[in-house]
Amino acid sequence: MNLFVSGGAVGIGRGVVVAALKQGWNVGFSYHTHRQAALELLDAVAAGFPGRSCHAYSLDVGDADDVESVGERVMADFSRIDALVCNAGIDLPGNLVSTSDEDWAQVLRTNLTGTFYLIRYFLPSFIANKYGRIVTLSSLAKDGSSGQAAYAASKAGLVGLTRTAAKEYGRFGVTANVLVPGLIDTEIIGDDAKGVKPFFSRYTPAGRLGSTDEAADAALFLIGKENSYVNGAVLHVTGGLDWVY
Ligand code: NAI
Repeated sequence: MNLFVSGGAVGIGRGVVVAALKQGWNVGFSYHTHRQAALELLDAVAAGFPGRSCHAYSLDVGDADDVESVGERVMADFSRIDALVCNAGIDLPGNLVSTSDEDWAQVLRTNLTGTFYLIRYFLPSFIANKYGRIVTLSSLAKDGSSGQAAYAASKAGLVGLTRTAAKEYGRFGVTANVLVPGLIDTEIIGDDAKGVKPFFSRYTPAGRLGSTDEAADAALFLIGKENSYVNGAVLHVTGGLDWVY
């Protein structure tokens, strides 16, 4: 079984790549600015999973032509892709009135449009194969998050996009589900000007932040072959804290 993960060199995406390899998947992953991390991951994979097929691709998910040409290389390298994890994302924090046109466009372009491009590229092959698994990465910000106007809007949009894929293509053996991690301490948190780390540490019933492995395990559950009847779900992996201020 072959998986493609966007933004797989670091953070949650890297966790998905490694967890999938452990479960026997072959994996293609993209990187954007993290070339060195991608090369190091390829080295680690070669040492840890000899004989397994794993390729890395430089990709800006917000560029439709780039998605198309990388998609073609992925299909050439793997022949067939069975599952897609749309993980790439950015956050440019800002209150609604202080969000610039540029920041708004950049966040929507990467998080929402980029995911749309990826799903649109791989879906026809899933339909032809009568089999496919799609997971998108949303966030508790989807329900509104102060100081994250563009990010929240993009993550809410992903729910509508993903559940539309579920409804339109479920009959073709395709499932599309949304993963909502709680707070996981990765690069995207930045300098945490909003103070979400202390908030989640204090109020998450689990008593701690989540790990990239925990988010990855949930993604692997959703792309599992046995999961043909979990479709259009929004899975919270949040340690029990299901809102953000
Ligand atoms: P991260 O910052 O470590 O990873 C983001 C990934 O997206 C990186 O690999 C980066 O290179 C890639 N990326 C950024 N712009 C790109 C572009 N234009 N084209 C292609 N790739 C691009 O952050 P993390 O936490 O691993 O985030 C992964 C996903 O999980 C994101 O969609 C994020 O919004 C989501 N998420 C993260 C949470 C957290 O607490 N860390 C909570 C909820 C959701």
